[in-house]
Amino acid sequence: MEACMAYTPTAKWFHWITVCLIAIALPTGLVIQHIKESDKMAFYAIHESAGLTLLIVASLRLWYRVRHPVALEPSLPAPMRVTATVVHHSLYAALIVQPLLGFFATNAFGFPMQGATAYFGFIDLPKFMPTMEGLGNVLIWIHRWLGWIIGALLVAHIGGVIFHQAIRRDGTLIRMV
Ligand code: HEM
Repeated sequence: MEACMAYTPTAKWFHWITVCLIAIALPTGLVIQHIKESDKMAFYAIHESAGLTLLIVASLRLWYRVRHPVALEPSLPAPMRVTATVVHHSLYAALIVQPLLGFFATNAFGFPMQGATAYFGFIDLPKFMPTMEGLGNVLIWIHRWLGWIIGALLVAHIGGVIFHQAIRRDGTLIRMV
């Protein structure tokens, strides 16, 4: 399939909806353990609902992206091309794996998205595995580390955008708005 030079409006919507959902899922995940007990459930509900929605959005986005390839800015030197591609592919992968880890971990802990932590507050999702606390601990450990890796990828991604906008002035940010 031949790559286009510009993002379609659908691709832009996918991008900015992803930004909004990460802006909810990442900070709520980071603060949950410091929240007082009485407010914790609300944070779990918001974090898990935003995270699971990210799984749906990221999967649809990846499916759409494969069907609508877009070329990187043509004047980009090879090392920047490789870096941008690695960061983009890693973000796609992480945004699909991370919610799955969280979702399976909550089930393994015997704490599925039901009741106070139902999807969007009212959609109870099934508990689909027996409680296995050991597995839950492993999954949530990986989830924590991947959370930090996603943070680092976002720093690289946003750093790249600032570099393109302020130093190379090649209009990279404008391509996505
Ligand atoms: C892309 C989506 C997601 C991101 C970026 C994300 C990120 C994070 C981060 C950064 C943490 C904090 C780790 C730490 O303590 O250092 C966390 C914790 C957690 N996340 Fe997620 N998460 C996502 C999706 C989900 C989903 C879908 C679920 C469950 C359905 C989930 C369940 C949890 C749980 C149970 C914790 C542990 C909170 C605690 O310490 O008690 N996450 N997440």
